Amino acid sequence: MKSTSSGPCALPDATAEPWAALLVAARTAAGRAYAPYSGFHVGAALRARSGQVYSGCNVECGALPSGGCAERAAIAAAVLAEGAAFRLEALAVVAFSADNSVLAVAPCGACRQALIEFGADAQIAFQGAQSEVTIVPLSALLPHSFELPVAGAER
Ligand code: THU
Repeated sequence: MKSTSSGPCALPDATAEPWAALLVAARTAAGRAYAPYSGFHVGAALRARSGQVYSGCNVECGALPSGGCAERAAIAAAVLAEGAAFRLEALAVVAFSADNSVLAVAPCGACRQALIEFGADAQIAFQGAQSEVTIVPLSALLPHSFELPVAGAER
């Protein structure tokens, strides 16, 4: 992944690949969100280790807890396509209001745990209210994540 400098503390560059393409895909996905209750339209796009890109949007429901987040919709699309072999390399998430203003969003706690399931060393990009992009390792978003001690389970 390209960085803004070559020093030991180089930051990932959101205008370089894979981020530029993932952010475009996440914005496209956010345009498909079904969010009539919150008005918070979220899109997520991930790059699998296979190189494929999968995206998802949030889908709300009048029975509020029955809705789902964009990130887990993207994971479901990836697992549907690649099965248990799916490994997460990078994910970008963005959000917009109903009138298309950029909103700040970072993956919720449940999504952080779900993302770790498929790639604890993945990189995550999320967008602030001024369209600024933060890119961090997933492990920094959820240190000490839950791990079910099942024999044979692999991460
Ligand atoms: N949402 C996501 O899609 N991803 C997140 O990480 C945070 C929240 C959705 C769920 C709900 O439809 C709306 O945003 C407001 O919480």
